[in-house]
Amino acid sequence: MGCWDALAIEWEGLKYYKSVFARLIMDPATKAKTSFGQMFRGIVVGAHYEWLTNPKKTSESVVEEVCGKGNYDALKGKVVIITGATNGLGLENARCLLKYGCHVVFAMRNKEKAAKVVAEMQAKETLTGKATFINIQLDDLSTVKPFVQEFLAMNLPLHCLINNAGIMAPPVYRASKQGLESQFAINNMSHYLLTHLLLPKLKETAQTSGEARIVYLGSLAGEACWNIDLDTSVPSGPEFYSDIGDYTSTKCIDMIHARHLHDKHTKDKIFVCAVHPGIINSGLGKDNPGLTAAFYAGSSLKHTHKSQAEGAATTMYCALSPEVPKKSVTEGAWWYYNCQPQRCIGFASKATPEFQEKLEAKCWDLAKAYA
Ligand SMILES: NC(=O)c1ccc[n+]([C@@H]2O[C@H](COP(=O)([O-])OP(=O)(O)OC[C@H]3O[C@@H](n4cnc5c(N)ncnc54)[C@H](OP(=O)(O)O)[C@@H]3O)[C@@H](O)[C@H]2O)c1
Repeated sequence: MGCWDALAIEWEGLKYYKSVFARLIMDPATKAKTSFGQMFRGIVVGAHYEWLTNPKKTSESVVEEVCGKGNYDALKGKVVIITGATNGLGLENARCLLKYGCHVVFAMRNKEKAAKVVAEMQAKETLTGKATFINIQLDDLSTVKPFVQEFLAMNLPLHCLINNAGIMAPPVYRASKQGLESQFAINNMSHYLLTHLLLPKLKETAQTSGEARIVYLGSLAGEACWNIDLDTSVPSGPEFYSDIGDYTSTKCIDMIHARHLHDKHTKDKIFVCAVHPGIINSGLGKDNPGLTAAFYAGSSLKHTHKSQAEGAATTMYCALSPEVPKKSVTEGAWWYYNCQPQRCIGFASKATPEFQEKLEAKCWDLAKAYA
């Protein structure tokens, strides 16, 4: 990249930081969800703490630790559903699971892309597991039940559901097929309904196999959310939309869902975690050039970035490590990054059981017609 291109990216990033700063002071839709202090603690301090304590594990090294290096049949018979496994972190998780013999169900919207990425991986290395592709459009709730019906018709167990797919901060308000704000629809609602419909299968697998797991992709951005107003922000309407504000609140909602399910289902031996993967220059946020320049392409946070392989490590840890059930039971651990439990400092840690129930009821109201 030329010097002028690099400078243009820095400039674009600076403009985005400036716009976020201005909105944190002036814009009611941003201020209602995140604040300067919470963003500083959640993202800036959090990213630096994470960088300093990075164990440098990769998705593959975590799987090797659990399965034994080179034991490529270790995950034979295990079934994992991953949403958004056609790109970025989900793809790296799928690769490692397939390498060690797992049956990975790609919950995806583009079968050609899924077939292509799997063929590319197979051309590079032997993958002993099986890949199945089932269509789901996470911005259309009416596609969730057909996905689940197709999966259940295969009569397989379900050892782990990885709610990974997500979008970040489209600059302009977009609505899903059902008229819900798109980040809320994709990051939260489709995963809410998917999890609800798959819970009986997860319970059945936990009874027959000893345990099952659910992993949510949260974020330090979720830690930057200071408040979720169920009336105005779940979901936000066009007049109350904030690209970054709604990203923080939807990631926080993912974390609250994880915490709620953790507390409810640990007794059923369904272990539920939320994960911050790190800051990874994947495809996330690609619709927002300013944010991409600020967080990913520019230099300001570059020193804190993880590789895709490192970023996918904690999800694998939460999906496979024998430590997770122990830590769930003994420490109540549900929030992880750098392959270990962390102290949650944002709204997700403060949300009372009453708030959690109200949030669940709101999501159920929006989802029940499609259940
Ligand atoms: N990267 C980071 O720095 C970072 C940091 C914190 C948290 N996270 C979280 O990590 C998760 C994965 O992020 P990533 O970095 O891997 O992102 P990514 O590279 O952009 O991948 C996103 C995946 O989600 C899928 N997806 C998006 N919209 C969809 C829809 N409407 N229907 C079906 N699938 C859809 C994409 O499918 P296509 O391939 O068809 O586009 C893709 O497979 C997200 O939940 C994100 O919030 C990421």
